[in-house]
Amino acid sequence: MMNARVALCLIFACFLCGAYGAKITFVNKCSYTVWPGTLTGAQKPQLSKTGFELPSGQTTFVDTPTPWEGRFWGRTGCSTSSGKFTCATANCGDQLECNGAGAVPPATLAELFVAPNGGQNFYDISNVDGFNLPMSIAPEGGSGECKPSNCPADLNAQCPAELQKQDGGKVVACKSACLAFNKPEYCCTGEFGTPEKCKPTQYSQYFKQRCPQAYSYAYDDKSSTFTCSQGPNYTITFCP
Ligand SMILES: *[C@@H]1O[C@H](CO)[C@@H](O)[C@H](O)[C@H]1NC(C)=O
Repeated sequence: MMNARVALCLIFACFLCGAYGAKITFVNKCSYTVWPGTLTGAQKPQLSKTGFELPSGQTTFVDTPTPWEGRFWGRTGCSTSSGKFTCATANCGDQLECNGAGAVPPATLAELFVAPNGGQNFYDISNVDGFNLPMSIAPEGGSGECKPSNCPADLNAQCPAELQKQDGGKVVACKSACLAFNKPEYCCTGEFGTPEKCKPTQYSQYFKQRCPQAYSYAYDDKSSTFTCSQGPNYTITFCP
């Protein structure tokens, strides 16, 4: 038979193991439907929702365990008219639930690391894989800096011609220079694989000037990584 002290310890341990997971709220403030996708990293099990439809004006939730790392994005222009479910931007394996498939770039990403035991969380909005729609990630509760990171601008509107992704004659997304040209100086690879060697370019600056809080290229860390501790929840807004 378990003695009382062991039982208390188990109850306390279980309380701790459930604490500090993050509740993620998705809000669609766009005038159009968005199909969010979620991807859990580090070979961990996927969340209970990996892809779903979020009509304009609607909200939905998903919980993460702790620790957790992964990313969120919003697909646009999805339809089943070709006989399968495909999206004009940020498609994930031709299915509504992404089931472990990532977003096909260009895609705006919200990246999140939920630390164990109320430790320091990291989060950001990234245009490293390009941009498809305005997005923000904002912590609620928690302690520390806990500032929202926001990319509210429509970067499709003035996307340089050589970076545009078009669909039916319309610019639906804006590629990063790494994606468009696949060159080491844009992708921060090879001899450009360090923060000292890989610098902003005229292309990354197109993104940075309009969305200063978002990552515009791989080593854009200083101005683009945000932190919050003590188990905040998060709201991810499309078209904030
Ligand atoms: C996060 O959301 C959960 C569920 O709604 C709530 O119980 C918890 O207090 C929230 N945490 C913070 C830090 O606001």
